[in-house]
Amino acid sequence: MRVTGTGHASMRIDTGAGSILCDPWVNPAYFASWFPFPDNSQLDWETLGQVDYLYVSHLHRDHFDAAHLKRFISKKATVLLPAYPTSELEDELRDLGFTSFLRTTSNEVVELDGGLKVMIQALTSPTDGPIGDSSLWVEYDGIRLLNQNDARPTDLDIFSELGHVHAQMIQFSGAIWYPMVYELPAAAKTAFGKQKRDRQMDRTIRYIDDLKASYVFPIAGPPCFLDDDLWQFNDIHGDEGNIFPDQQVFIDHYEGLGYDNGVILLPGTVSELTADTCETTHPVADVRKFFENKEEHLREYQARQRPVIEAAKATWRHPEVDVLGEMKRRIEPLLEESVYLAKGVGGPIRFDLVGYDGESVESIVVDFPGKEVRAAADEKVRYRFRTERALIETLLHSGEVDWVNSLFLSCRFSAARIGQYNEFVYAFFKCLSEERLQYAEGWYAEQRPDAEDVKLGDWVVQRRCPHLKADLTRFGIIDGDQLTCQLHGWRFDLPSGRCLTSVGHEIRAHRATTEAPTPTPTPTPTPTPPHS
Ligand code: FES
Repeated sequence: MRVTGTGHASMRIDTGAGSILCDPWVNPAYFASWFPFPDNSQLDWETLGQVDYLYVSHLHRDHFDAAHLKRFISKKATVLLPAYPTSELEDELRDLGFTSFLRTTSNEVVELDGGLKVMIQALTSPTDGPIGDSSLWVEYDGIRLLNQNDARPTDLDIFSELGHVHAQMIQFSGAIWYPMVYELPAAAKTAFGKQKRDRQMDRTIRYIDDLKASYVFPIAGPPCFLDDDLWQFNDIHGDEGNIFPDQQVFIDHYEGLGYDNGVILLPGTVSELTADTCETTHPVADVRKFFENKEEHLREYQARQRPVIEAAKATWRHPEVDVLGEMKRRIEPLLEESVYLAKGVGGPIRFDLVGYDGESVESIVVDFPGKEVRAAADEKVRYRFRTERALIETLLHSGEVDWVNSLFLSCRFSAARIGQYNEFVYAFFKCLSEERLQYAEGWYAEQRPDAEDVKLGDWVVQRRCPHLKADLTRFGIIDGDQLTCQLHGWRFDLPSGRCLTSVGHEIRAHRATTEAPTPTPTPTPTPTPPHS
């Protein structure tokens, strides 16, 4: 099995039974803030893109690069699709021209032509990626590889049970805005950053110890920041609180702990894996030296990309957008429907939007308890975000449903908060569509053992649709013995509980012989600890 590094989380896997290209990313992501490091734009993408299979682990823009996929990746490739609750990934890939899809079942091995086996584990909580993150396991001719990517499964047993893994590809660096964007004294920021940096390294080692693969490839980061406004986030300033350590820093740390099986995968690195060996050739003569000269590499890369950044910036102003009015129109209906997320956020969130002049500020509050979007009053808020009005205009103009996968990951904002990290804030702002919100609400509801039933017509049914968890008190229509969920039109036969639209997805239902049960009071969800 041959693995070719193609940058960041991307790699091409070649076997005797076909090739798989994973997560090709070249163009800047998140308002032109993240770039792949090292630069991978000079690779021979015409050739790399001629593959049998394409695997896009999830929709984060440093894994899903629409322009690159469209231009360079063969549309004859079969897409290995994770089992996500929504069809967004498939829809986006179809829009780009891909027509062949293999829809996998999470944690089930699929044997492809020629004896190539793959298994995809899909993680689907609202905190996993943009509603979904995944890992790919591959086996050919007795050699096994786990591209864990940036997914965070609770354990790796499902993979190790399939036999010894020869290569593990795993994230080790930061991929978040914390703590850099927080308005904190420098010393506190450094302390939090150091904690985070240590924690992400520890987590990586824990996964490595779990799997005990023959070779470990640190991948999926760090990105680099080429805009002058964000340059300080590159780990070139000797800041121990920087959360973006590079591959060489990780390998040095790893070797310092006594391990000797780490392999750096630069764009263009080729590793030939056998049961006992990993022969690796790099595109540079001296990998350590390459990282020692990182700043020079970044400065040259920055000079090449400056026009790209400037061109992107020129598209961010949409003065015709009435930001308050449009936020009201888009967000208030979702606030109205939100039970778990709204309760989880538990307070108002303020956006301070800096005008084109760099000085004037318009403050808008998203009031979760009050379920409204309005001009800010003199009030305490749970979180405060300060960003350019132009960025919010762009999000509203394009109808972006995921502000995490655009604004927040861009790091083009500053933030302050009262109290602890609150996962519900970000879960809400990645769910600015009916479909996503219903899924997230249902997911949180389902975490309760006493999942709620409701009375609809002559029936008592589970409150959440078995498809994507829509609230059936809003979307369920009963017609005789059938229930239709109007969110996607799925139908259910209530006497048998059978789903008439798709296999599986039974609904819990029985005829109402008594009055509807008193609704269970809505519990306050217990936040899980922040993963980043
Ligand atoms: S959530 Fe899709 S049909 Fe109900």
